[in-house]
Amino acid sequence: MAVSRNGTIGILTAGGDCPGLNAVIRGVAKGAMHYGFQVIGIQDGFRGLVENRHIPLDNRMVSGILTQGGTLLGSSRDKPHKMPMGSEVMDMTGVAVENYRSMNLDCLVCLGGNGTAKNAFRLHKKGGINVLHLPKTIDNDVAETDITFGFDSAMDIATEAIDRLHTTATSHHRVIVCEIMGHDTGWLCLGSGIAGGADVILIPEIPYDLEVIAKSLMQRQRSGKRFSIVAVAEGVHSREEIKAMAESGQKKRKEKIVHQSEDGVHLVQEPVASRIAREIQQRTGVEARVTSLGHVQRGGPPTSFDRLLCTRLGTKASELIAEGHFNVMVGVKGTECVPIPLEKVAGIKRLVPADHPWIQTARLVSTCLGDEVA
Ligand code: F6P
Repeated sequence: MAVSRNGTIGILTAGGDCPGLNAVIRGVAKGAMHYGFQVIGIQDGFRGLVENRHIPLDNRMVSGILTQGGTLLGSSRDKPHKMPMGSEVMDMTGVAVENYRSMNLDCLVCLGGNGTAKNAFRLHKKGGINVLHLPKTIDNDVAETDITFGFDSAMDIATEAIDRLHTTATSHHRVIVCEIMGHDTGWLCLGSGIAGGADVILIPEIPYDLEVIAKSLMQRQRSGKRFSIVAVAEGVHSREEIKAMAESGQKKRKEKIVHQSEDGVHLVQEPVASRIAREIQQRTGVEARVTSLGHVQRGGPPTSFDRLLCTRLGTKASELIAEGHFNVMVGVKGTECVPIPLEKVAGIKRLVPADHPWIQTARLVSTCLGDEVA
């Protein structure tokens, strides 16, 4: 059912930011304006929806933002159904829906990752509002889409970092362990590790064995290679950790907890790479150093690939809105941007499958993946 072409749509950006958010905002807004809609931007994710904070997004506002990193709307990880309000955590779903109605929205376009898909779907189911989800994350772990926006840009940053680490590792004959984001999945580490020619790539989908890694590194030494780069995804686990966690029913490694200062400020998370580097140095006798790329991977302008993808996803969303086609994610399948029902996406994480071609590719260029000597 087509909606009134003089209606209003809202856009929000939720979860961790990434390059390309502004490009998508521009794509959705320009496309929607083309079809005659008014567009408003809701600030700071679902918190802005609950607190009724929004700005008009006209042509002037979305002009010149295609290349800008971050999000002009601001983002937060707040969920409508579990929102910290003062000293309490409250279910603010009703208020979010009320504000959607008071803004006279015909659709709420939510740019975000897995959590955002779930929150958008929940608002639709509980509040009966129209939503659209656009898959954003450097982690590339959203179900039912070949790729998420932001991933290519982050992969470029991580690849460049690995390139740079190569030259300094070579000069000092060191092992450098580079920690790469990706949450519980290995897409970013595997992609940038292959692109940067890392010698060892460790991803959460393949539990690693330190003995295997040490043997691979020693083998490189014996063949005359006096440096090595180890790319480590932040969510990795060793075989022993997986076993211990299974026995104790624990889901995540304890050290993954972000350290907090007394006033609640998040401090730097202890890189898992530190522990791996220490073990490597002990087992091989080769000097090891650690680099954790952290939020650098989420900063700066999007790549040309992401700019094109973001513009395509955003304008496809505007087409779907004009057709009255809601409650879907706009995903990428092959060369097409297509609507995918939200129930197929919400709550499902896309891991690197064991038979993914990138894994075979890595093994064929003698990269150790931590489970067998390369
Ligand atoms: O989901 C994107 C991501 O950058 C993950 O790769 C990482 O684990 C997490 O967000 C970091 O979150 P925060 O910015 O809240 O520290």
